[in-house]
Amino acid sequence: MPVTIVLGAQWGDEAKGKVADLLAGGAAVVARFNGGDNAGHTVINPYGTFKLRLLPNGFASPETRCVIGPGVAINLQTLVDEIEMLEVRGLPIRERLWISPRCHVVMPYHPLVEAIYENAKGDARTGTTRRGMGPVYADKVSYNGIRLADLADRDVFADKLRVQLTVKNPLLEAFGIPALDLQKVMDEKLAQHEQVQTVVREPFGMLQEVLQAGKLVVLEGAQAALLDTDWGTYPFSTASTTLVGGATAGLGIAPRWIDRVIGVAKAYLTRVGSGPFPTELTSGAGDVMLQRGQEYGTVTGRSRRCGWLDVDLLRFTAQLNGFTELVLTKLDVLDSFEELKIGVGYRHPEAGEALAHYWQGDARWLERCEPVYTTLPGWMQSTILARSFGDLPELAQAYIRRVEALAGVPVSMVSVGPERSEIIPVPAV
Ligand code: GDP
Ligand code: IMO
Ligand code: MG
Repeated sequence: MPVTIVLGAQWGDEAKGKVADLLAGGAAVVARFNGGDNAGHTVINPYGTFKLRLLPNGFASPETRCVIGPGVAINLQTLVDEIEMLEVRGLPIRERLWISPRCHVVMPYHPLVEAIYENAKGDARTGTTRRGMGPVYADKVSYNGIRLADLADRDVFADKLRVQLTVKNPLLEAFGIPALDLQKVMDEKLAQHEQVQTVVREPFGMLQEVLQAGKLVVLEGAQAALLDTDWGTYPFSTASTTLVGGATAGLGIAPRWIDRVIGVAKAYLTRVGSGPFPTELTSGAGDVMLQRGQEYGTVTGRSRRCGWLDVDLLRFTAQLNGFTELVLTKLDVLDSFEELKIGVGYRHPEAGEALAHYWQGDARWLERCEPVYTTLPGWMQSTILARSFGDLPELAQAYIRRVEALAGVPVSMVSVGPERSEIIPVPAV
């Protein structure tokens, strides 16, 4: 069966974009099904370095079609900028880009409403990327969204926008933000829409044909399982479904087509924004990870919080998604450590002597967990030139084998640098 899905197995930024880029070469279609321009996927391939927030991979292979399904929220300016950026760099994409007219559009009031909530919450804020994701998905499920299809009809768009501004403007003004002008918002959005209208076309029929023909389709997940609306550390989570099931709804692909579910995980752990993180290291080894791993957010530039790999989380996200394999990235970042810790479960005041697990509680419960570690010796030498499993130091090989045993999923690839060529296949045990 022809669908391979690439999913974040932790709190995001695991290098999903890089794995999707690797697979895109042989794919008929690469598709995004969730999130919006809150994602930031960095890819380094023979064409250069790309930081994509909205467009899927596949842009570098002329035969590959790029698809954005209805589950994605579209910031039109980001879309226009990314298409133009690729054109300027000699990689035109319009002819092979399909964006569902069912996609909801981020309106200027969405980031403003989000900022009102984040500011009101103070220290309890989620620490969002401020791209308006919470409000745009809230409007979608409460029948207040505006979709790409609505922008194709000026009168329909005007009517819908008028209703939204009737409700949103008093809220903005109550918080000292000037009301939005109907005409100005319309002009701005219609001008952006005009620049992309030829690529707004429903991909469903084309996708079904590709599936029936048995060609490879790669689904590029955004965000990650621990940010999922239902199974993540809510409310320190994101607004869309980040799991394998989200892809079937967010794109219109039946679950039976998906036969390869790749979980991408860093060899350690990071998170951006607020929320519990039991194996977090606020100094020492955490600083080394931050510097060596260049852990700064692609979208916001914020420092990412760093910590030891937590296999309790990995086992959970593997069960949740049915990972058929794991790709372990950024192994090189661990090159200098004398010893390495792996979290295997937690002590929780209410669990007594038994090991507690992530799925047992919510974010507040997880805050009270103390990680239990297993410790492994570090390899203390560079892995960046390794190009086969056998090139890796024995202790690095042992670390990988331990991770797969603890997570209960085989590791199929590891990466030792940001470039496409720095991904190494891992032989099955
Ligand atoms: P995504 O959101 O999951 O696609 O991941 P991001 O692109 O946000 O973050 C991953 C970062 O790690 C990017 O800056 C990549 O260039 C970089 N990267 C990917 N793989 C490796 C690796 O194996 N080693 C190192 N040092 N950096 C990597
Ligand atoms: P990629 O696809 C890491 C986090 C934010 C915040 C929370 C909610 O690059 O892995 P949002 O703006 O979605 O409402 O923010 O989710 N977040 C991410 N963290 N990688 C991402 O995407 C993320 N997208 C959202 O930092 O904690
Ligand atoms: Mg990212």
